[in-house]
Amino acid sequence: MEERLPQHIAVIMDGNGRWAKERGLPRSEGHLAGVDAVRALVRECRRKGIAYVTVYAFSKENWQRPETEVNFLFELFLRFIRQELPDLMKEDIRLAFIGDKKDLPFTVRQALDYALKKTAANRSMVFTLAISYSGREEILEAARRAIAAGVSPEQLDETCFRRFLYAPDMPDPDLVVRTSGEERLSNFLLFQSAYAEFYFSPVLWPDFGPDELKKALDSYAGRKRRFGRTSEQIHRQLATEGKGYE
Ligand code: FPP
Repeated sequence: MEERLPQHIAVIMDGNGRWAKERGLPRSEGHLAGVDAVRALVRECRRKGIAYVTVYAFSKENWQRPETEVNFLFELFLRFIRQELPDLMKEDIRLAFIGDKKDLPFTVRQALDYALKKTAANRSMVFTLAISYSGREEILEAARRAIAAGVSPEQLDETCFRRFLYAPDMPDPDLVVRTSGEERLSNFLLFQSAYAEFYFSPVLWPDFGPDELKKALDSYAGRKRRFGRTSEQIHRQLATEGKGYE
């Protein structure tokens, strides 16, 4: 069977704190190890030819964490963006961002804007950082922007609405992965995940390496995606296209 790859994989990276706790280390060490896992994920997805990778790095709700942890995370994001830029260029990867940019500390926004511009023409893969992101807020903000743009209720269909999302050209995720055994969407890509397949891994984020990614992709490859259609309709379509899942 030819392996069916998702075009877009979106990841809820969970379990850095528990990973550190298990080792008697401070939470910050878990986040540091989490950065290495992000780097490895991007590299592996690029190698496999996955076109879009999105990671949930910081939710709107995460602002409620202790100030020292929040500051540490933003230091990490800043360092990550600066350090990864040469590799993103070398690997022809475009960096993208979804979330509420105005919440970001100035230095992070500056480094991010620079990296977004610098990688804008890269074509091999799109790597999207979700920072200060909330799916509900994205939907509300899109509604506000549509109203402000003078879109009438009759004009507002799905295609039109999508133009007002944070990343209008980003295809919907085919596969959403969450680590650490939690099985929730936690306000991530609410609009875009309508037909996503979900994969929940018991592994804590820092331990989610290429082998774990392969398990997620193998699971995805074995799914029958129906998009609300009956299995009859799917089989008929596959028969006309001359291919099948099994
Ligand atoms: C969840 O673990 C992780 C986060 C809220 C932060 C995600 C950040 C990283 C993986 C590191 C940096 C990322 C980038 C893109 C540079 P948790 O702290 O909620 O863990 P716990 O549930 O075990 O406490």
